[in-house]
Amino acid sequence: MERKGKALTLSVFGRRKRDGCKLVVLTAYDLTSALIAAAGGVDAILVGDSVGMVVLGHENTLPVTMDDMVHHCKAVARAKPRVPIIADMPYGSFHVSTEKTVANALRLIKDGGAQAVKVEGGRQREDVIRALIAAEIPVMGHLGLTPQSVNRLGGYKVQGRGAAEAALLREDAALLAEWGCFSLVLECVPSALAETVSGEIGIPTVGIGAGAGCDGQVLVFHDMLGLFTGLKPKFVKRYADLGEAACKAVAQYAEEVRDGVFPGPEHQYDDQPASGKDGSGSNVSGQSGYLGDMEKE
Ligand code: KIV
Repeated sequence: MERKGKALTLSVFGRRKRDGCKLVVLTAYDLTSALIAAAGGVDAILVGDSVGMVVLGHENTLPVTMDDMVHHCKAVARAKPRVPIIADMPYGSFHVSTEKTVANALRLIKDGGAQAVKVEGGRQREDVIRALIAAEIPVMGHLGLTPQSVNRLGGYKVQGRGAAEAALLREDAALLAEWGCFSLVLECVPSALAETVSGEIGIPTVGIGAGAGCDGQVLVFHDMLGLFTGLKPKFVKRYADLGEAACKAVAQYAEEVRDGVFPGPEHQYDDQPASGKDGSGSNVSGQSGYLGDMEKE
């Protein structure tokens, strides 16, 4: 599952926009999802605070903690995906002093292994975004539907409709670019507005529910693979139905255990190591560790 060629850095964001090539971003939260994302050829991985909903079972992203984010970033980084890893700053981690905000972001970089952080919000976040960038921490902005504002917004609603709201969003996007953000997520905004913003600012926009005029797209891993079916926003395209396939596989496993079909002879060990095949008694996968101690038969 190794990506061939040179490892990508954050410079891929600017390069794709300059070259007119769409950026492909996908969330991942652990080793397996990061390996799959990298093998699929994404340009960057976002360790989103959506982890709170699709992995940790919270109703929204607000309960996600710094510890949660560092934990999941580390797992993603262990996949060595050879593409940039961007970590969400969770709710509460940047609504504090600039010093504390920078300290929190540094944990995601130094302990979590991320190369950049994402911060929700526009003009009201000027101090913290400037402080992060001054501390050499690359920042991805996030405007439109910012899920951490769900209480203030009164739900998950399309943002930027109407002239006044659209003007505010355009101004915020220009500010984020001016402060030095390297890219900007636009979530759930009208396509025409997202296209206008993408043409107006020098940094790439990455859309989710913001139409085809953005410089790139991001989706949540579990949504696009049909693993999380709790919510299905209009903007999600399901490229696979792995949730259903997994349920069928588990049901077959349960049936085979109950019927005595599994484990079959091929899944069992004799009291003597097999001498045939590779003769070394080495493992199934060729890896060390848990599987590495297993006998190959
Ligand atoms: O947390 C997340 O996954 C996100 C994306 C939806 C942009 O913020």
